[in-house]
Amino acid sequence: MFKLKDYLLKAKQNNWAVPHFNVANLEMIKAIVESSEELKAPVMIGMSESEREFIGLDQAESIIKDYKKAGAVVFLNADHSKSFESCKRAIDKGFDSIHFDGSHVSLKENFEITKKVVKYAKKKNIDISIEGELGCMPTESSKIYNKKIEVKKEYFTKPKEARAFIETTGIDRLASVVGSIHGIAANNPHLDIDLIKRINIEVGNVSLVLHGGSGVLPLDIKNAIKAGISNIHISTELRIIYKESLIKSLSKDNIAPYAIMEPVIKDMKEFIKEKIKFFGANNKL
Ligand code: G3H
Ligand code: ZN
Repeated sequence: MFKLKDYLLKAKQNNWAVPHFNVANLEMIKAIVESSEELKAPVMIGMSESEREFIGLDQAESIIKDYKKAGAVVFLNADHSKSFESCKRAIDKGFDSIHFDGSHVSLKENFEITKKVVKYAKKKNIDISIEGELGCMPTESSKIYNKKIEVKKEYFTKPKEARAFIETTGIDRLASVVGSIHGIAANNPHLDIDLIKRINIEVGNVSLVLHGGSGVLPLDIKNAIKAGISNIHISTELRIIYKESLIKSLSKDNIAPYAIMEPVIKDMKEFIKEKIKFFGANNKL
């Protein structure tokens, strides 16, 4: 059975991207696992600090472990972990992947903490995949901004800095800021495809991660994958589908929770499967 690292490398070498969806409950997990199985696609399941606090760290790990035992090829990521302690808790619990988000600390601290996370994690589990972040995204997932937003160039990831960051820290994946935002803006912020290419030249086999996948134009996504992005995060768009579908389902006569949730899972699956295919991750197991 392949490991997350193997899929990420294959994706990078063959110009497709491993999808990463954020979840906050069992129904979302179920929709992802079933979509992954039906399309034979490796998928990352992400939980930010608030999401894993809501589900429970133990519960999150046990649920995914059980699905894996039953044959699912999904990988659990501690997304946007903001401190070493937060990363450590998820590493100790057995997560497959950690994202240390050092965009809120100084560059020096970002280098130091990321390096410390990699060292600690690899000692515990040689197969764990660690993501570091360089640059800064100014917005939050789940928010719909009724205005035009463009990321200031000064917040973008700098190619030479990316190389130094990777060499110093030993990360497996790099979250790069290249124009997308968390959440959805009134415009569709454009990705800087040339910058992705320039970062990609500097990072070798390290996977380039695109955060803020919601609201990015399909053509930009296609070009980003061609330019070297091999892992794409989606949260807001899936949350919108979840909420809208749930409201619709609640307006019907059902009171059995499984009957209420069934169409919601179906709608989420439709969305997830569309993204899996668009990223080229189907038939990759
Ligand atoms: O880590 C999560 C993602 O970057 C999601 O961003 O809410 O804009 O899809 P999004
Ligand atoms: Zn993100």
